[in-house]
Amino acid sequence: MSSTPVLPDGWTLVALDSVGSTNDEAAHLADAGAAEGTVVWARQQTGGRGRRGRHWASPAGNLYSSTILRPDCTALHATELGFVAALAVSDIVPAGREVKVKWPNDVMVDGGKIAGILLESSLGQGGLVEHVVAGIGINVGFAPQLPEMRYPGAALGGSVEVALEKFTHALAARLAKWRREGFETVREAWLAKAGPIGAKVDVKLGEELVRGRFAGLDHEGALLLDTPAGPRKIVSGELLGRAA
Ligand code: BTN
Repeated sequence: MSSTPVLPDGWTLVALDSVGSTNDEAAHLADAGAAEGTVVWARQQTGGRGRRGRHWASPAGNLYSSTILRPDCTALHATELGFVAALAVSDIVPAGREVKVKWPNDVMVDGGKIAGILLESSLGQGGLVEHVVAGIGINVGFAPQLPEMRYPGAALGGSVEVALEKFTHALAARLAKWRREGFETVREAWLAKAGPIGAKVDVKLGEELVRGRFAGLDHEGALLLDTPAGPRKIVSGELLGRAA
């Protein structure tokens, strides 16, 4: 299929052949007043960005999109949107494939990373966020295998247009549920798709490597670990190898 994707009611598509980063483009549009549900989609990115300042390889064939959200919440609550977006990605994985979410916002299919999520918020007045750009890269046509990758890649298959259409509808549904029911329902859904409680995990915190067992997700999205030195709550870090 190569027709234009149909987005959820009220959402707007900005389709580009090539751009530096869809997140940057979406942030400019948001600063200029673009509404929630504006989706910037590019066939390729020349400066795709990942978390922690990493490069996100973005040749044509995979999905690169950034959605403007205006959640009217604090920056702390806005981080919940990463879990919302990860669940939306997991919703579009065809039945029969094993789908797992991995803290904080990765989605793994049959053991390989299929998507990455980069949330970038702009703070407004009174401690609330002005907007959030939810940048999503989904491997659709192929799984890049680069030396810096910490996991094997996986690909969804099918067309980029269909993936974008399905993903935006899944995201709209998950967002509506988050707004209606709050983070607790998201947390439960996320835990149902995460590795088992008690699985061995390693977490990199700057230069420190913490080894422990997965003990869940707290009510604000922090990773809970049982370590030989006692329980730990990880707000920001990177799950490595031995991951649940
Ligand atoms: C990660 O490091 O896992 C997050 C990767 C996020 C990549 C997407 S692709 C669309 C959007 N534009 C960017 O420059 N990055 C995000």
